[in-house]
Amino acid sequence: MIIAIDGPAASGKGTLAKRIAAHFGFACLDTGLLYRAVARDVLARGAALEDEAVAAKAALNLEFASLDDPALRLASAGDAASVVAKFPSVRTALLELQRRFAAQKPGAVLDGRDIGTVVCPDAHVKIFVTADLEVRARRRHEEMLTRGDAATLASVIELIRLRDERDTSRADAPMRAAADADLLDTTEMDIETAFEAAVGLIKRRIARQG
Ligand code: CDP
Repeated sequence: MIIAIDGPAASGKGTLAKRIAAHFGFACLDTGLLYRAVARDVLARGAALEDEAVAAKAALNLEFASLDDPALRLASAGDAASVVAKFPSVRTALLELQRRFAAQKPGAVLDGRDIGTVVCPDAHVKIFVTADLEVRARRRHEEMLTRGDAATLASVIELIRLRDERDTSRADAPMRAAADADLLDTTEMDIETAFEAAVGLIKRRIARQG
């Protein structure tokens, strides 16, 4: 069983994915961490984020164990990730690893931007999570303050707006809802309500597929 959760920055998809995976006893992969780690490794080699050859090499050599790095949670890491994520060679290098993860039994939940469209087009369940830009920015701003990552709300709104734009406008695997995805707008929902709504969507999908 594969559950694909896609959506823009700070839509709540990561928290939802973890809750859903725990609920069903499935493994969970935050695929954004892969791109964040590639960007980190490019910078660690002293290269520029725009250097596609170095980024592709970093993607091919990526180690799962290195995803457990608190620095990857910083807002700057998310921003850097969206620069290397536009390179087709980077995306291709990370594809097999994601598909292998998705194939495990009894099931896996993957969250990202292109899980339902490119990585797992045959996923049993696809949910595209959205929320208004300002609501997403407020959530991200609160998270950042808790972590001691200082920023103004206005700067977070701008950062997220630019990142969404970069992610939707790239040529390779742009962020978009799969034609057969269920949309979940969490603008007016807290995490508990969103989780219950998502479980409802998943159960309906599974029932329909027999
Ligand atoms: O947590 P947040 O939504 O802010 O970001 P993330 O999911 O960690 O993703 C960071 C960046 O990685 C995104 O802005 C995308 O550019 C890229 N990404 C991607 O291209 N494809 C994915 N499946 C996941 C992330």
